[in-house]
Amino acid sequence: MNFPKIIQGGMGIAISSWQLARSVSSQGQLGVVSSTAIDLVMIRVLQLGDPEGYMRRALAAFPDQDVVQKILDRYYIEGGKPADQPYAAKPMVGDKPSRSTEQLLMVSNFAEVWLAKEGHDGMVGINFLQKIQTPILAGMYGAMLAGVDVVIVGAGIPIEIPKVIDGLCRCEPVDFAVHVHGATKGVTHKLSFDPRGILSEDIIPAKRPLFFPIVSSVTLASVMVKKSGGIVDGLIIEEPSAGGHNAPPRGKTQLNDAGEPLYGPRDAVNFDAIKALGKPFWLAGSYATPEKLAEARAAGAEGVQLGTIFAFSNESGLRADLKRSTIEQCQHESPKVFRDPVASPTGFPFQVLSIPDTLSEPEIYVDRCRQCDLGYLREAYEKTDGSLGWRCRSEDPETFVRKGGYLEETEGRKCLCNSLMANIGMGQLRKKKGSDTIEEELPLVTCGADLSTINQLTNSEKTSFSAAEVLDYMLCS
Ligand SMILES: Cc1cc2nc3c(=O)[nH]c(=O)nc-3n(C[C@H](O)[C@H](O)[C@H](O)COP(=O)(O)O)c2cc1C
Repeated sequence: MNFPKIIQGGMGIAISSWQLARSVSSQGQLGVVSSTAIDLVMIRVLQLGDPEGYMRRALAAFPDQDVVQKILDRYYIEGGKPADQPYAAKPMVGDKPSRSTEQLLMVSNFAEVWLAKEGHDGMVGINFLQKIQTPILAGMYGAMLAGVDVVIVGAGIPIEIPKVIDGLCRCEPVDFAVHVHGATKGVTHKLSFDPRGILSEDIIPAKRPLFFPIVSSVTLASVMVKKSGGIVDGLIIEEPSAGGHNAPPRGKTQLNDAGEPLYGPRDAVNFDAIKALGKPFWLAGSYATPEKLAEARAAGAEGVQLGTIFAFSNESGLRADLKRSTIEQCQHESPKVFRDPVASPTGFPFQVLSIPDTLSEPEIYVDRCRQCDLGYLREAYEKTDGSLGWRCRSEDPETFVRKGGYLEETEGRKCLCNSLMANIGMGQLRKKKGSDTIEEELPLVTCGADLSTINQLTNSEKTSFSAAEVLDYMLCS
């Protein structure tokens, strides 16, 4: 098989938009959309009136138009919602989603992949996060109905995903274990999804997508290859300088003087050992130069997965003003990227780009009223009756403690769900803490530690670049 040298990494929420993935895929490399909160993105696009019409074009291709019509009736606003009106909410996805919540997940994942695949024959991937378990099953089936070529799963140990892919390929019920805090010993809680009967006819997806887990150690890579009980087609090896969430350092976490988790020799990956597993692999984390690509290939990799450089390209979903200010800042002095050990409610270190007017400024964050209304990063906990409850470390601390969490776990947490929606220009409107003033949620931008490639593609006159320019730069030699 002819594998790509460049994988454009999945970047949630909708930073690796279908526009970006389509551009990369149509040029023969692997473009990847993000499944994270894509149901929310879809309904907000519909509430904005879908001004470019692309969402309704994708929905028209979905195999069950009754399901689509229900979604349009509920969320589509012709001409768009009034600018001062908040977005309508959708149900959060828990362990027992209703059929309509599952349909929303299926349809939105379908639409994102369908759009990324439109008009070319290149391969398109979709990225899921193992930490965000509840939307995966229905979302993956929707992506498979759109013919997704590769399923990529990061942020965790996606050991059961090969089995899930196989089941969905046969249109059979699937399940996997959900991580539950305080679960009774010996009890496994499961999330399940039955693709039968959810649409007017049961559909067997046209093909089985390839599966590439994202791992950060040889141990994890070999567990995935040898113990997942299914097919692992390739591996993405992500190093700690990568954007987004990072795997925590091995052993007890120690912080440097700036308060960031310290990585050491134990976190370095032995590429010979990865190679010995006999699977194609890609390296991720500060590989955005032709020299680093050559280095990766010399180590036996097929190529590299890049995130940051694509996040600032024209086609990404990141708000234009945030791209522009970061690119301009790079021309003077590279902006600081802080690996925040606590910002993410998941507990994984999260890379935060320090730029003005975002939640990277601590004094701004104090003003936000803590609440959880999107819920993608909630954790499951076992209630006294044995059923599951859901709580988020970024929600109001009192509520979190009432649900059995520890107060200290809430310290320093930020509402990533809401701020990542603001990053793509779809932030919710809500009242400022202690006042009637309505404000839009503020962004919180993540990126990798190395922004230097931005300066290779821009200068004081040229302040933007396309995904094609990134590929030309990477593949020129
Ligand atoms: C803005 C941004 C968002 C990201 N979101 C995700 C994500 O949702 N899932 C994931 O597996 N990786 C995510 N990543 C990691 C990228 O897919 C990629 O592996 C990483 O950025 C590579 O390192 P680099 O940023 O140095 O190129 C994200 C990276 C960035 C920059």
